[in-house]
Amino acid sequence: MRKRTFLKNLLALGATASPGVNSFGQLLTRFEHIPPAQLASNEDFWAEIRAGYRLKPDYINLENGFYCFVPQETLENLIGHVREVNYQGSWYMRNERKGNKAATTARLAELGGCSPEEVVITRNATESLDLIITGIHWKEGDEAVMAEQDYGAMLNQFKLAAKRYGVVNKVVSVPNLPQSDEEIVELYAAAITPRTRLLMVSHMINITGQILPVRKICDMAHSKGVQVLVDGAHAFAHFQFNLPDLNCDYYGSSLHKWLSTPLGAGLLYVKKGNAEHVWPLLAEGERDPNDIHRLNHIGTYPAYTDLAISDAIDYHHAIGGKRKEERLRYLQTYWTSQVRDIPGVIVNTPEDPARHCGIGNVGIEGLKPADFAKILMEKYKIFTVAIDGSNVHGCRVSPNLYTTLEELDVLVKACTELAKA
Ligand SMILES: Cc1ncc(COP(=O)(O)O)c(C=O)c1O
Repeated sequence: MRKRTFLKNLLALGATASPGVNSFGQLLTRFEHIPPAQLASNEDFWAEIRAGYRLKPDYINLENGFYCFVPQETLENLIGHVREVNYQGSWYMRNERKGNKAATTARLAELGGCSPEEVVITRNATESLDLIITGIHWKEGDEAVMAEQDYGAMLNQFKLAAKRYGVVNKVVSVPNLPQSDEEIVELYAAAITPRTRLLMVSHMINITGQILPVRKICDMAHSKGVQVLVDGAHAFAHFQFNLPDLNCDYYGSSLHKWLSTPLGAGLLYVKKGNAEHVWPLLAEGERDPNDIHRLNHIGTYPAYTDLAISDAIDYHHAIGGKRKEERLRYLQTYWTSQVRDIPGVIVNTPEDPARHCGIGNVGIEGLKPADFAKILMEKYKIFTVAIDGSNVHGCRVSPNLYTTLEELDVLVKACTELAKA
């Protein structure tokens, strides 16, 4: 099967064209002279991006943090791939699948700025991260460091490692509004002892959208002989960075979040030379101990996803990573800057642009997050998710590229009215 390109498909299907624009390619050409930071507030451009999505009219979707459902173009491509793989059947699985998967992996590696030998496609961040957490060659009494604001599934996997291998977990708590990078680095450094083997850190904390100074944390941990696993479920293809620049040992992400692939796609990065330190989850035949594919035996899987990842990469490149980052940050600051100083409103996301991007979290004094989320949905028709734990009490707000300022105005109105009530 030959991979069709995003723009070619758009022209063929006319899928995302909106009134006055014949193709997505023309749209991008029309706006290409505008720098990303300026384009972030160009509602004409983003309205045309919005037209490429099929949106449910029932509510304003500010809960993309779970799954950034795909634009129509990627969806149509996926359906085409399902048809083609089904048509070719075992022939595809025996003769085409491996090459296509390798090609997609190489494109993912390019997006992450690393070597294809350091990346494998997984089914989600949970698979990527839990594989490392369980796979480290633990000895009883070894210690691991993590934060209570990390994702529950990974914290549970560390608890399992404690039961299974006698790992001792040291859990820190990251402040919602830190004053400096050093404050955070120190927090993690203080939890490290001579027995620490692994430190896990979220690149972006999922419940608040706070970006952590991962490079500094990795440098500090390495200076103490500790390896670092980064949970990048919300960072990859959300804001721009190169994986090697983080200086981490392992990195896991879900691609169905900010890369907007169909459900069931993830990435695992293992820095060269580290694969031999990890047991696979499912056994692979004999390979070089440092071959990352030793960690990636998953049996038969929905192979058309590999092809749809490539379509999502096309979409990502067509829009442009920097444009996407700037727009997502613009949307978040658009609403948080209007409510941050209102008495009774608590914004749990830092104001410093280096510490945030598209995700924000807001609470209302005296209102339980679950009740806040219910009122947002029932009275204002806004879909968010309530967070009530780990020192975070509020609703997580995660817009996407199709979100309009008018939709965020409804959120601002809701926060303003509820803070006064
Ligand atoms: C920070 C973080 N890590 C890991 C995950 C797990 O992702 P998945 O369910 O796609 O495996 C999530 C999911 O929301 C997350 O927010």
